[in-house]
Amino acid sequence: MALAGLFLFLSFFSLGFTFSEAQTTPAIYVFGDSLVDVGNNNYLTISIAKANHPHYGVDFPNKKPTGRFSNGKNAADFLAEKLGLATAPPYLSLISKANKNNASFLEGVSFASAGAGIFDGSDERFRQSIPLTKQVNYYSQVHEEMAGRVGPQALETHLSRSIFAVVIGSNDLFGYFDSTQLRSKYTPQQYLDFMSASLKVQLKRLYDYGARKFEIAGVGAIGCCPAYRVKNKTECNTEANYWTVKYNDALKSMLEQLKSENPPLIYSYFDTYAAISDLINNPTSHGFAEVKAACCGFGNLNAVGPCLPVSNLCSNREDHVFFDQYHPSEAAARIFVESIFDGSSKHTIPINMRQLVNI
Ligand SMILES: *[C@@H]1O[C@H](CO)[C@@H](O)[C@H](O)[C@H]1NC(C)=O
Ligand SMILES: *[C@@H]1O[C@H](CO)[C@@H](O)[C@H](O)[C@H]1NC(C)=O
Repeated sequence: MALAGLFLFLSFFSLGFTFSEAQTTPAIYVFGDSLVDVGNNNYLTISIAKANHPHYGVDFPNKKPTGRFSNGKNAADFLAEKLGLATAPPYLSLISKANKNNASFLEGVSFASAGAGIFDGSDERFRQSIPLTKQVNYYSQVHEEMAGRVGPQALETHLSRSIFAVVIGSNDLFGYFDSTQLRSKYTPQQYLDFMSASLKVQLKRLYDYGARKFEIAGVGAIGCCPAYRVKNKTECNTEANYWTVKYNDALKSMLEQLKSENPPLIYSYFDTYAAISDLINNPTSHGFAEVKAACCGFGNLNAVGPCLPVSNLCSNREDHVFFDQYHPSEAAARIFVESIFDGSSKHTIPINMRQLVNI
């Protein structure tokens, strides 16, 4: 007992990087959109897709708006917690002047950016965000920096045990349904096939840079977000939901294919659509009372306008599925991550995240 304790104590102080390797999951690298952005967009000077003002963060420690599109923590925070890790910091904070000389990318990095899509163009209406292609470009630079620091062999081991979480696609679909131009150019099926093929290219790039364990979220029932409900007498937009399900089907086949072409790759797919539909259809069994209205916003359903300092803020935030026009509340995000990690095959395919971690 005492010897083992001493050994652990010595290992902790003498082995440095080796110690962190000994953990099951040494790091999480996060890619995606506002569902997992923890502050990258705060560093984009002309972006208007920012959540760095009240009432965002009203339930975050010190009531601090951080860039998370939530009243509190978002899915990126809960994913890290599940892995026993700190939330991966925003890439743009790590390379900012203050941290430039001692940023370590080995504890995880978030490249996620609100408004980002699989396609570079879906952020136009938000003026600026970091599209997925650029997030992966940034990751390739991080890869080079880490290789220089620990050497290619140790990096390969480190990355093969790390989790690569990818949460993207909603903005591309919103972009399609809100654009008459895109709709006249592509059928929905063409567009969503193009989305999944383009995502495959980026996932393969991550794989080529050492990623092995992927946590991939499908797109949720976007037709039921308050912004769409308010345009249809509080009912869901059935067309957007229909094609979102089709997109998720394309995504699932793509992942199977990607895995069969690159056998060391493993993944857990999370059926966000089923999970959020579950909350919407059986709210009380999950402790929710309000599935239609946003907590923060104004107008009908608090969904006519965005969450701003002057907007209405509900007091019962724990029982709202949505915090603003588009984003889940902290309470909903917490439930999603429970399901990502320990969910049954109803929500996680072919394995859940706990299994992904333990392989
Ligand atoms: C380096 O890291 C330390 C501790 O994490 C932090 O306090 C400091 O601000 C960082 N940046 C520089 C330039 O030292
Ligand atoms: C509006 O809601 C109704 C009832 O659910 C549905 O039948 C209809 O298709 C919806 N309209 C749109 C544009 O989705």
